[in-house]
Amino acid sequence: MSKISIKSQKEIDGIRAASKVTAQILDAVGEIVRPGVSTEEINTFVHKMTLDAGCKPAPLNYHGFPKSVCTSVNEVVCHGIPSPYQQLQEGDIVNIDVTSIKEGYFGDASRMFFVGGPKACSEEACTLVETTKQALQIGIEQVRPGAHFGDIGAAIQEFIEATGKGYGIVREYTGHGIGNQFHEPPQIIHVGRRGTGAEMKPGMTFTIEPMINIGTHKTTLSRMDGWTVRTQDNKLSAQWEHTVLVTPTGYEKLTQSLAGYDY
Ligand code: MF3
Ligand code: CO
Ligand code: CO
Repeated sequence: MSKISIKSQKEIDGIRAASKVTAQILDAVGEIVRPGVSTEEINTFVHKMTLDAGCKPAPLNYHGFPKSVCTSVNEVVCHGIPSPYQQLQEGDIVNIDVTSIKEGYFGDASRMFFVGGPKACSEEACTLVETTKQALQIGIEQVRPGAHFGDIGAAIQEFIEATGKGYGIVREYTGHGIGNQFHEPPQIIHVGRRGTGAEMKPGMTFTIEPMINIGTHKTTLSRMDGWTVRTQDNKLSAQWEHTVLVTPTGYEKLTQSLAGYDY
């Protein structure tokens, strides 16, 4: 059994600082998302802004990942690789997943963007994106000392099932502990049962990052690049992610937007 670390004040400050840079990059990258922009241009933007902030982009060379950010368009669930040959089109939905390393500490978050604005996207895409954002928030609201990690997945699963839309919740990819490593124990599963899993304690830091599909929860891994994860039925998928800290009274969302958004 691998153990979930309790971070020291110094470690918490480090993760908080890295997370703040990640949030600032996501706040800024939203301004360049528009039809005709390539995912490679998004990568270049994130890469430069990361270095300008005195940080390193965690995805770059992580287990051989070739770029500095993940860009996951439409039916891509996660781990999409930026490419100069992939231009965003009006009506696309795209997840941008940024992880910054500052002084050895990691901050990980992702958000969805509507290419051409929300009005350019289909109603089903809009509803999926908004519902997934709410699922993340409901998951985060479970976080407090004494709660169990299974409470997060249970709350998300109950919420998604109650929509009655038949959405699939991805199982193969999970949230994770985070600190001076990108991925630490525990795995944060986005389905589950209350009261199961380890107990949360003040000083634990981890991500919650539900991936919700319009259709099946099942995914396929690209045999072409070994990274790109798609829905098995090629229907749309959405994801939002935050890095959170367990505080003595509840949670702190470390990757909260600093641009006045409610996420
Ligand atoms: N940021 C992703 C996560 O939320 C991990 C990306 S790994 C990469 O855990 F290698 F694809 F960058
Ligand atoms: Co991430
Ligand atoms: Co993550």
